[in-house]
Amino acid sequence: MDLVKEIERLKKDKNAIILAHYYVRPEIQDIADYVGDSLGLSQKAAETDADVIVFAGVNFMAETAKILSPGKKVLLPDLEAGCSLAASIPADNFAEFKEQHPDHLVITYVNTTAEIKSMSDICCTSSNARQIVESLPLEQKIIFAPDKNLGNYINSVTGRNMVLWDGQCHVHHEFSLEKILDLKNLHPEAKILAHPECQRPILLVSDYIGSTSELLKFSSTDKCNEYIIATESGILHKMKQTSPTKTFYPAPSDDPNCVCADCNFMKLNTLEKLYQCLKNESPEILMDEKLAKKALVPIQKMLEISEKLGI
Ligand code: 13P
Ligand code: SF4
Repeated sequence: MDLVKEIERLKKDKNAIILAHYYVRPEIQDIADYVGDSLGLSQKAAETDADVIVFAGVNFMAETAKILSPGKKVLLPDLEAGCSLAASIPADNFAEFKEQHPDHLVITYVNTTAEIKSMSDICCTSSNARQIVESLPLEQKIIFAPDKNLGNYINSVTGRNMVLWDGQCHVHHEFSLEKILDLKNLHPEAKILAHPECQRPILLVSDYIGSTSELLKFSSTDKCNEYIIATESGILHKMKQTSPTKTFYPAPSDDPNCVCADCNFMKLNTLEKLYQCLKNESPEILMDEKLAKKALVPIQKMLEISEKLGI
């Protein structure tokens, strides 16, 4: 059976749309209706008029799509597709943390569960975190959660002193500075492009820091021909498609069991699972309505601020 053809047929029959993150497998990116970063995907999920959204990504992304479009059927090809960053912030511990900082506004990265979002004032992604923080008065005290690397980076570029939750994404946290510098020695002309979820020493040696869509844009408009990419390796597919004459090297990880920067959760999405999920309309993301309504407030604030700022 030609899976791609079958998926296309089912998509038409069911008025479905496939939204995919840049980190999923190339063959899924190639059949998606929209491929983007976390912000772009939330914006698409909010505006689509499809009846069914198949989310080729991870749980928190599909959950965000369901919160934004509660009337639509939202499917995730594998419910095991979690996120180590979202898992690094248990709701009970975060409630205690908030109590310790009572006069602080809470900004959380979208890489969180709906429960954490429901305890937040504004959400952000790596594409708009800086602008959202800068839209608040200087004297405003802020808790930033859960990614401490992104939080540290935003503190450093804005001069703020946000209180940070101690969370991280295993993929970005484990890039090896030493191995990246070895790779740079082999390819001295290559520019290092890094996602702000990476640790500070890696950001300090980078030529450009940005969200996945910002890294993609930079790599296509910049004049250089070689790049070392310190974010999940799935983005290399779009970079190569966009700039076929350029060379991209995935940044090496510290993990001795893994040579590449793959997110094991993102890679759970396969064409076969996507096909089965669209055919059976399962697994489906189902949510408690009250929780979804609460979690919608900070997501909507994020989208409103982003729209105002033209992001
Ligand atoms: P962006 O999509 O905002 O670049 O975030 C990267 C990420 O880790 C998503 O899982
Ligand atoms: Fe989560 Fe990191 Fe995977 Fe993104 S790359 S889904 S932040 S574990």
